[in-house]
Amino acid sequence: MYDVLIIGSGASGLTLALSLPDSMKIAILSKEELDEGSTVYAQGGISAVIDKSDSFESHIADTLDSGAGLCVESTVRHVVENGPQAIDWLLKAGVPFTREDDKVEGIEGLHLTREGGHSNRRIAHAADASGKAIEDTLVSATKLRNNIDIFEHHIAVDLITTRKLQHTELRDNRCIGAYVLDIENQKVHTFRANFTVLATGGASKVYLYTSNPDGASGDGIAMGWRAGCRVANMEFMQFHPTCLYHPHAKSNLITEAVRGEGGRLFLPDGTRFMKNFDDRMELAPRDIVARSIDHEMKRLGIDSVFLDISHKSKDFIQDHFPNVSAMCYSFGYDMTKEPVPVVPAAHYTCGGLMVDQAGHTDVNSLYAIGETTFTGLHGANRMASNSLLECIVYGQSSAEDIIKRADSLKSCDVDIPEWDESRVTDSDERVVINHNWDEVRRFMWDYVGIVRTSKRLQRARNRIETLLAEIDEYYSNFRISSDLIELRNLAEVSRLIIRSAQQRKESRGLHYTLDYPNPDPKLEKVNSILDPMWRSR
Ligand code: FAD
Ligand code: SIN
Repeated sequence: MYDVLIIGSGASGLTLALSLPDSMKIAILSKEELDEGSTVYAQGGISAVIDKSDSFESHIADTLDSGAGLCVESTVRHVVENGPQAIDWLLKAGVPFTREDDKVEGIEGLHLTREGGHSNRRIAHAADASGKAIEDTLVSATKLRNNIDIFEHHIAVDLITTRKLQHTELRDNRCIGAYVLDIENQKVHTFRANFTVLATGGASKVYLYTSNPDGASGDGIAMGWRAGCRVANMEFMQFHPTCLYHPHAKSNLITEAVRGEGGRLFLPDGTRFMKNFDDRMELAPRDIVARSIDHEMKRLGIDSVFLDISHKSKDFIQDHFPNVSAMCYSFGYDMTKEPVPVVPAAHYTCGGLMVDQAGHTDVNSLYAIGETTFTGLHGANRMASNSLLECIVYGQSSAEDIIKRADSLKSCDVDIPEWDESRVTDSDERVVINHNWDEVRRFMWDYVGIVRTSKRLQRARNRIETLLAEIDEYYSNFRISSDLIELRNLAEVSRLIIRSAQQRKESRGLHYTLDYPNPDPKLEKVNSILDPMWRSR
């Protein structure tokens, strides 16, 4: 029995764990190694108002502008105003942020870079490997804590709730833990906890091309949805404009900070095309840059556009972008001398499980934090580097709330049945899993990608309903594996994305459909909420 079960060990999960007192018994699960997840791959950095010429009002205004009318202003204020203390907390934990001036101590001495949508330099970073610097620091601190049990290669299958157990004497639907598959030993264990936290990251793996690691299959969103939580704004999947285009590269990201530091986008004939789309050119918000690239690629039938920063000195490029330039070099492109081919790829899930400012979901004792959530911060389009900030701020505010509630929590000692495998067998048809994985990711890319139409969405809807029925049948007949768990979640989340996209009859931020190409003023501030309880009404 744990006080707190944290599912996920990225920036959000580890921040929460480290913000809870030593007196609490905590379990952290990661379905891979502890440091694997999107956090470790983050490049650009983490935004906060640090520069003297910057202000909270300016960061708030930029975030609202990027969010295209759908941000929840109180959430934006909460996150932005907590920015400087979040960076200070990371700095004190030992994150080796790049410094502008070694003589100036604390956050004031940090070097700040710039990214799309930000009207000021406000991105704290550790060269171009900011996520690794943060994750490594948090992992080391977590390993020193005796009250935290770490379970690597353990994948949560589903949440255990009083409603699912049909304990009607408890009027609330309360989460009391999770069933978890130990991937190496192929055994499902019951983890019981007073508080459970979903910190499982995003769902960009629903698309064929993505900057995200393989584990970004939306497990937390799907588990929360099945447990009774509302989800919001799933149609707003963000495509990062610049991933390296190469037949052997797995959509490796080229940080937006390259454009922030002067990188320019060109067509193969040398035209600087962003001038035709937005006055901010390469530093327009991501939805605009990604859509412009997609438009030009389709118009001209080209495989990629080109990103060029070779007008800067070799020292500058290698100093600011040591990892990105080495990655490009390993695929045969020398950023210091030539333009590199780039394409957009799925990058960030702006929607997710609905939570309040303390990370509460609709199910009692269940919290969610980080990319798996909809807090209202990102609206219709997340601004660069606001995500890691949201992870730290919500990791901290959820910890505060758990501490506050722990003393008054009534115990819930209902029996939890063991995971039942009596009616399943080992699969002799694993090909179904691989086939369905590929099929989902391909039609999501083709029909529910950067540019949508009502017809394409309906096609995707028909396909996903058929596939879900097939996956459910497979799930009920065969022993589970991590692939099957992820496929089931990936398909569920795809359905949520399609349903939300069908619901929104306008174009706004990241959701662009040729059938309704303009924003509808009546839909400003209207978030797309899906409620799982409607299914049974
Ligand atoms: P993650 O870091 O993704 O961690 C998820 C955790 O959940 C992992 O430990 C995983 O093993 C675990 N997990 C998932 N499902 C299960 C399950 N079923 N059972 C058990 N464990 C599970 N944002 C910025 O703000 N600035 C940037 O510069 C930036 N750059 C980025 C670059 C790249 C290439 C990518 C992919 C993202 C970038 N982002 C950036 C986005 C940002 O990194 C993520 O949104 C953020 O790190 C998410 O953190 P998280 O804690 O929510 O989840
Ligand atoms: C990047 O470095 O371009 C990614 C930043 C982000 O996604 O916030």
